Amino acid sequence: MTHHAWRFMIVIPALALLSTLLGCAKEAPAGATDRSDAERSEIGLTISPVPLNTQGLDTALVGVGSYLVNATGGCNDCHTVPNFATGGDPYKGEKAKINADHYLQGGRQFGPTTSRNLTPKGADRLPAGLSFAQFKWLMQTGEDPLDAKRLLQVMPWPIFAHLSEGDLRAIYEYLRAIPALPDNPNPSPNP
Ligand code: HEC
Repeated sequence: MTHHAWRFMIVIPALALLSTLLGCAKEAPAGATDRSDAERSEIGLTISPVPLNTQGLDTALVGVGSYLVNATGGCNDCHTVPNFATGGDPYKGEKAKINADHYLQGGRQFGPTTSRNLTPKGADRLPAGLSFAQFKWLMQTGEDPLDAKRLLQVMPWPIFAHLSEGDLRAIYEYLRAIPALPDNPNPSPNP
């Protein structure tokens, strides 16, 4: 065997080991998702379509909440009218731009039901004017906070009821950080 061949016998396994190690670093371990809370939070803070006021809030938690609202929750679909800014409608092949001016202000009409304004109210910045206990209760039971005998219609609370308390808290904290807006002056049905 020449001394060149010996060199390959060391170099090739070394390369194989290195690529295995790099591969492990990239791939999620079996049974886990591939994004940690820290990564979700970072992405959440990047994709929020509105500037956030995190004063007095836990920014990392706000970020996770933004991830849940903007990457999974679909809250925008029903609570922002219209969904997209002029020229920013991905369904028309345009580069997506959420309608920040009316973000989560409510006003989507579904027959007799209109989606509500989720933006923070008052000095305490309570989303839709709700305490966390009220918010959690309605997300888990669908009971209308304005009328406990009535169940919220259209609002997908039977799905959101599966979220953990921590996830609900993160969504709530994110809603505290978004800009406060009055109720939508132009409520309109789904186009
Ligand atoms: C499919 C449409 C839809 C989606 C998606 C949706 N909502 Fe709603 N939501 C509604 C409608 C419609 C109402 C009003 C229901 C009624 O009056 O019966 C409502 C009501 C609410 C209320 C009650 C507000 C109040 O003033 O009492 C809260 C809070 C709320 N939604 C939060 C959310 C959050 C947070 C998300 C995303 C995680 C979300 N919604 C996603 C349609 C939706």
